[in-house]
Amino acid sequence: MHLQGQHLQGQHILSVEQFSLADINTLFTTAEKLELVAKGVVTTKILDGAILANLFFEASTRTRMSFHSAFARLGGDICDTTGFSFSSISKGESLADTAQVISEYADVIVMRHPEQGAVADFAQHATVPVINGGDGPGEHPTQALLDLYTITRHFNQTNQPVDGATIALSGDLKHGRTVHSLAKLLARYQQITFHFIAPDSLQMPPAIIDWLAAKGHRVHCFPRPEQGLPDADVIYCTRIQKERFNAEQLDATPDESQLFSINQTIINRYAKPSAIILHPLPRDSRDGAFDLSTDLDADPRLQIFTQAANGIPVRMALFVHCLGLQDLVGHDFAPA
Ligand code: CP
Repeated sequence: MHLQGQHLQGQHILSVEQFSLADINTLFTTAEKLELVAKGVVTTKILDGAILANLFFEASTRTRMSFHSAFARLGGDICDTTGFSFSSISKGESLADTAQVISEYADVIVMRHPEQGAVADFAQHATVPVINGGDGPGEHPTQALLDLYTITRHFNQTNQPVDGATIALSGDLKHGRTVHSLAKLLARYQQITFHFIAPDSLQMPPAIIDWLAAKGHRVHCFPRPEQGLPDADVIYCTRIQKERFNAEQLDATPDESQLFSINQTIINRYAKPSAIILHPLPRDSRDGAFDLSTDLDADPRLQIFTQAANGIPVRMALFVHCLGLQDLVGHDFAPA
């Protein structure tokens, strides 16, 4: 399925592969129009009477709450369920039955599920648009959209084109669905140079590397941050996702989290002064070292909190387009 810029209405949002550059630009134009609504400066009732079903079967803070906040800021109502134990799936109900039932309760459904492909399976049985909030190690399309929104806004402000940019992705590139989706989304641009920084055991899946190379992008894999950070315009860090390791991987993979900890010393030594540093969050400090150190928090290159905030206007824009309301944006804005 390939979407056209103006025709997201009624579509499921399952993978970034659905989006053309025209779709992305259309969404981002709508997101920019909604920035003041996202910040609560102006109000709108564009989704008055609409209901979002927010179904999260895997841990989440940002995605679950920002989808909720985005829908509420647009005037809609939200019903949700979190975790299998509080859903009738724990009584053996199938995803197919759940999808058919909830389609009668809501106008749009957001779902996160620990199994790759489960959101797409669910969507086959839903009669309202389903948005993938993350399916195991598969994809996280709305995270990639907000990441790209953050990147393009920064590049626009500094008069840099995305075409020809060098993007460093660091950490657990094997299990990190955000980096899978972001790499595919960036591939819509021309001549991107990707620096994939990860130990061999956690490198980007070969299928994605081959797909990017076949599209004419340059791909370089590095085992250490100091090798992949120089020349990068964007440094995108991720945590090691041990919850996705099987027992064999847990035994076989040395604890390399310290080697992939990006901190002020490494950034000062190897990163360009103009680079921006992103992370989908959460940062993980459980092994004694953050994957992205808090000693960078005062560095203006660190844009992780702007990035997380951008989840609201981008997710608002997706709702508006999925529900076919884009032509109404701005018509009823009122001061808060
Ligand atoms: N970035 C992200 O998906 O965060 P959560 O897991 O908290 O939703």
